Amino acid sequence: MQNKGYDLDFLDKLKSANDIVSVISQYATLQKKGKLYWACCPFHYEKTASFAVNEMEQYYHCFGCGESGDVIKFIQKIEALDFMGAVKLLADRAGLEVPKFQGDENLSKLNDQKKRLYNACNLAMQHYQQNLPSSSIAQEYLKKRQLDDEMVKLFCIGYSAGWTQLIDFLKKNKVSEYDMQAAGLVDKKTSGYYDVMAERLMFPIINSYGDCIGFTARALDDAKFAKYRNTTQTLIFDKSRTVYNINNVKKAKQSHGIDNIIICEGAMDVIAMVKAGFDNTVACMGTAITPMHAKEIKRFAGQVIMCLDGDFAGQKATFRALDILGGEGLDVRVVTLPENLDPDEFLKKYGAEKLREYIENAVVATDFKLKILANKYNLKNNYEVSKYLKEALEIIKQLPTSAEQEIYLKLVRDLTGISIDSLKRDLGYEVKSQSIVNEDKTLEVREEAVLRATKFVLASMLHKKDYADIPIDKMYFKNSNYQKLYNFIINKRQNGQDYKVSDIFTIFDIDEDKDIADIVDYNFENITNLEKYFVESLDKIRRIGLEYRQEELKEMFKKETDINKRREIAVELTIVTKELKK
Ligand code: UTP
Ligand code: MN
Repeated sequence: MQNKGYDLDFLDKLKSANDIVSVISQYATLQKKGKLYWACCPFHYEKTASFAVNEMEQYYHCFGCGESGDVIKFIQKIEALDFMGAVKLLADRAGLEVPKFQGDENLSKLNDQKKRLYNACNLAMQHYQQNLPSSSIAQEYLKKRQLDDEMVKLFCIGYSAGWTQLIDFLKKNKVSEYDMQAAGLVDKKTSGYYDVMAERLMFPIINSYGDCIGFTARALDDAKFAKYRNTTQTLIFDKSRTVYNINNVKKAKQSHGIDNIIICEGAMDVIAMVKAGFDNTVACMGTAITPMHAKEIKRFAGQVIMCLDGDFAGQKATFRALDILGGEGLDVRVVTLPENLDPDEFLKKYGAEKLREYIENAVVATDFKLKILANKYNLKNNYEVSKYLKEALEIIKQLPTSAEQEIYLKLVRDLTGISIDSLKRDLGYEVKSQSIVNEDKTLEVREEAVLRATKFVLASMLHKKDYADIPIDKMYFKNSNYQKLYNFIINKRQNGQDYKVSDIFTIFDIDEDKDIADIVDYNFENITNLEKYFVESLDKIRRIGLEYRQEELKEMFKKETDINKRREIAVELTIVTKELKK
């Protein structure tokens, strides 16, 4: 078996020859407490040690910033090297010879292509920046928007002077037209290639490793079609997971620490916020917030503050965004700006101090939702009160504990004058009627429960918890990463081989596979009866997995033409169906 271009045996040997404790001690002062070694995290600013190295399992985890990895990943991050570079450094350190890179042909091709696209975007950024000083209309626009030199530099702002200049520049730098197009920089008409962002102010989107991956580009003339254009989806740019300004937030976190992350809507708002001293601000690029955005943000802070203009506050999409952020375990606060001003406009009109006041008074998401709802209805009118109650109880029902529900029931009581007892009765009633009316919702809830159970079971197995050391039937997972992890552990167990948490980092790319990161960093503390929860979870996911496998086999059976393979599928289908009947 091989991985990331190297033989797994070689990677094992490399890791054994580079004990993680001795490698990391060259970069941080480690102190042993119990089973772990502790230090201040070398990846983010902090005063008390929350960076732990597990010698036995040969991996590190920072409880502050959530970074974790094996010795190779550590070297990649701290020395800013790619995987091959880190392997080479560690091999030199241990006096091992690096075997020839065999690369999974496809994987190394993909990595090569990604590298070429990063290069194309980085060069484009450079070109646009070079255009800026000599363009009088761009300069005029910067002045109008009060974007000073410091901000221009910090955000690497540039200008696309025309339709073909970029192409000439990139060609001179040996970028092929194919790669320019693959990077979303140019498109093709019958007359040839052209810069899709021509005559726009260019805001590069830079990932947390400092590479430009795409652009958001503003027309200088508001009358122009499409005020903003964003780079289309490419191999390196996916707007559903990209967070604008995360590169600077990462630096802010490393240099002075941040308490939370402020989310606003667009690049202009982010820049105005940073200029006003809020250097912990990001935006999701012209798209609704997804769980992947939330995960990316959570790498850097546990609390987020959504900064909304009044216009957006009441919209369904906003409630949904708050739920998504909360669903990833973030503490979500909301600020609503007055007069439908966006942060940029607010700052210009009222200044930074006033905004700071608003931010300090940010309310928790549930407060915000109930308040918005209360504004929507006339609570002096009985009919409207009943409509309000229906929606308000719907929100309260989603709160995880009855203590929290009680707090907000009191708020609703104060607003409506309906007694807590009746509200509670209605809450119970709502739950029942809801599950019949809204099938989707119950499905969603069930899937989330399965996901929670899955993560817990896999984490318990990976971290070799005592209670997880029981015979476990073959299990199926919809998520191929989970399947891979489960297969890995079960194989090792069946062959009586030991395994370490650090092995996971050889098999997965934790930065890409966030679902696996959740398992490595699993927090067992909040679970009271681990043993019981394990057995229950096992049962739950085993059933769901079998159902899923049954569906999959039926599909395979339908499509398969080879008679022998059909027979094999039929045999497994019978076994699975029998298992399900148990
Ligand atoms: P807004 O219209 O509120 O723009 O759109 P803005 O952020 O205030 O920008 P300025 O101040 O006019 O320059 C909010 C966000 O929606 C996306 C952008 O990300 C923008 O920041 N958007 C807007 C687009 O993607 N395309 C558009 O044509 C307009
Ligand atoms: Mn604006």
